[in-house]
Amino acid sequence: MSSATATGSDRKIVIAPSLLAADFACLGAEVAAVAAAGADWLHLDVMDGHFVPNLSFGPVVIKALRRHCALPFDVHLMIAPVDPYLAAFAEAGADHISVHPEAGPHLHRTLQAIRGLGKKAGVVLNPATPIEAISWALDLIDIIMVMTVNPGFGGQAFIDSQLAKIAALRALIDASGRDIALQVDGGVTLRTAPLVLAAGADTLVAGTAVFGAADYAAAIAGLRRRE
Ligand code: DX5
Ligand code: ZN
Repeated sequence: MSSATATGSDRKIVIAPSLLAADFACLGAEVAAVAAAGADWLHLDVMDGHFVPNLSFGPVVIKALRRHCALPFDVHLMIAPVDPYLAAFAEAGADHISVHPEAGPHLHRTLQAIRGLGKKAGVVLNPATPIEAISWALDLIDIIMVMTVNPGFGGQAFIDSQLAKIAALRALIDASGRDIALQVDGGVTLRTAPLVLAAGADTLVAGTAVFGAADYAAAIAGLRRRE
């Protein structure tokens, strides 16, 4: 996680390529390639065709990728219910497990379960979800992720209204004094990355902007630019 005391441009930028935009015919080679290209985390989007209108992959694929990649596995669960599957993702090799508040009736209990499995716990806020959804659970949260598209698909357009939410969360995290990563997911490109960084984000998920580029290293380096 980033340092709680770092401010503004001192804050380390974490780039987490989303595997959803990779070539699924050669996932092992794809994860090795983004690791060699300078990625910090690997973002893994799990979709159930119920919580979101798309299907992707589950713990079997994550477990198979684990031996191809030493990066932290940042697992974004878009499934409901989520609690019955947490242990399976932990055992498959997840380092961070992020959940949506809407995925179950007891977010606090879900976060306790993730921490109990020895993993970093993340909460994901959909575009219409208010920041108040997490304000009484900050002590259990390692990552707050702001969705800047509606979850379910890569390659969607960035939703500008979320910049104000990112700024509000930056203030909330700073006021808490806690070491919480502020992550942004959806529509992150060379144009939008400087906007979310200026709003206070420190961790960028990028699918199309990395795996859709001819040169992964140049794409990742480009996303680290603040202007
Ligand atoms: C969407 C996923 C994102 C997606 C981002 O539900 O959570 O991680 O892969 O894709 P891009 O970067 O193409 O918007
Ligand atoms: Zn995601």
